[in-house]
Amino acid sequence: MIYLDNAATSFPKAPQVAQAMAGALEKAGANPGRSGHRLALAAGRIVWGCREQLAALLGVADPSRVVFCQSCTDALNTAIHGILRPGDHAVATLLEHNSVLRPLSERARAGLNPLTLVHPGPDGRVTPEGVRAALTRRTRLVVLTHCSNVTGVVQDVRSIAGVCRRAGVTLLVDAAQSLGLVPARPDELGADLLAFPGHKGLLGPHGTGGLYVREGVALRPLRQGGTGSMSESMFQPEDMPDRFESGTLNLPGIAGLAAGVRFLCQHEAEIAAHHRRLCERLRAGLGAIPGVALYSPPGSLLVSFNVRALASGEVADALDARGIAVRGGLHCAPGAHQLLGTLETGAVRASPGPFNTDADVDRLLEAVAAIARR
Ligand code: ALA
Repeated sequence: MIYLDNAATSFPKAPQVAQAMAGALEKAGANPGRSGHRLALAAGRIVWGCREQLAALLGVADPSRVVFCQSCTDALNTAIHGILRPGDHAVATLLEHNSVLRPLSERARAGLNPLTLVHPGPDGRVTPEGVRAALTRRTRLVVLTHCSNVTGVVQDVRSIAGVCRRAGVTLLVDAAQSLGLVPARPDELGADLLAFPGHKGLLGPHGTGGLYVREGVALRPLRQGGTGSMSESMFQPEDMPDRFESGTLNLPGIAGLAAGVRFLCQHEAEIAAHHRRLCERLRAGLGAIPGVALYSPPGSLLVSFNVRALASGEVADALDARGIAVRGGLHCAPGAHQLLGTLETGAVRASPGPFNTDADVDRLLEAVAAIARR
């Protein structure tokens, strides 16, 4: 199978990931941060080591500002529900994933927080002027995807962060499709909060993710419970990262994530350059096939397209039958498809990973050309 669905989850994972997960279960399978015996301390070191690696990748000086979550969705929910108070106004963009649109829309429907969705320009980029125009006296939060999971367009987060900073508004960046492929350091971007998955660009296992919380951001935890610290208190600790990490952590997942991040950091520039090249090969090849409509401009981190008037699911199935894995449909991002005019058909999305080759891309191009000729 040629796997070109890395925007859904990367596959295969980095070489040492499975081994690190098995090793954590077999050799350090105690509960990190709870008991004081050697096995628990070993488990705790695995968790802290991964946190340090993530902090280094994110350019964050204090690793305790990086909290582990179950997924990027979990991180986004923690950020959104934790920052907004009744009466606050929220701003997001039409490009956001449902993991942003749904929590914000549910809060708006419950009468808690009015929501404004900013449209990007024709180039797929949200402008600072567009965000500025959406702000009101009551705006507390702006949510922005770093890279659309439908078009692959990377946003100019820094200029939008400037608008948020001047207005005293918290900026939450969704780095689901960017981290690991382009630099996504919160300080450089100007993000107050940055949510990321562990299982996409970081090449770690499913069920992992994290949230960076800038010092000074007043965020309430989504969950309360045992942290192994301050156990005499019936209230949630204020300390980071315990404030946001109630319950037993996903130790094997975190061990695997550490292996993924280690591999990524050893090959970061090479992986990024390879990814850019494969995306451009995909774009150029698809653009040359008669009947193919391309939705991803140059520089996109993934490539979406349709073939004639065919439903994207039909094309994805035809590719699957030829041994090629892509994702059709709406990609849980209806706003982006509304903008592209593809709400009916969806789009076919090809997203390469570090282990794909030129030959993989060429096989997809041949298969798409054959489908377009049918
Ligand atoms: N959010 C992931 C995607 O875009 C699952 O496919």
